[in-house]
Amino acid sequence: MSEITIKNLNELDDFAKELANYILHNGYKTVLFYGEMGAGKTTLIKQVCKHLGITDNITSPTFAIVNEYKNNRIKIYHFDFYRISSIKEVFDIGFEEYLDSDDYCFIEWPEIIEDYVYKNSLKLNIIVNSQSSRIIKF
Ligand SMILES: Nc1ncnc2c1ncn2[C@@H]1O[C@H](COP(=O)(O)OP(=O)(O)OP(=O)(O)O)[C@@H](O)[C@H]1O
Ligand SMILES: [Mg+2]
Repeated sequence: MSEITIKNLNELDDFAKELANYILHNGYKTVLFYGEMGAGKTTLIKQVCKHLGITDNITSPTFAIVNEYKNNRIKIYHFDFYRISSIKEVFDIGFEEYLDSDDYCFIEWPEIIEDYVYKNSLKLNIIVNSQSSRIIKF
């Protein structure tokens, strides 16, 4: 387990760039973003998507459960399971097919599905340190 202290949004963006490269080079397709409300999961996902070359408008999928972004090389599914109360809802949206696809799955509030992620996944935990500072454990 390692951790990094992020002082502000600029440093988060530097980390996001490294993370995008790390994800590409290590072949991770599923990334689980843990952290309390307002920790910065969506913010980090936006930055990582940008560094992966996505130019789409990236918004929190809190109401849609999943958003899809793509360019001519990659596709990213962005999930937010905050409002999910039963694992059945997760299977009903076809979560397993998303996982089985060779596309990226970036997941906020992954607690409810973590036992079902059989693929090698990268886990990140964002902890609020102060108003603009975060600790990221991975
Ligand atoms: N260093 C930082 N890293 C991440 N976010 C930061 C940082 N400094 C300030 N912020 C702010 O904190 C907020 C994080 O909100 P964000 O929506 O990304 O959180 P979240 O973890 O996705 O929350 P939710 O669980 O509600 O989806 C944003 O307003 C962002 O600008
Ligand atoms: Mg969010």
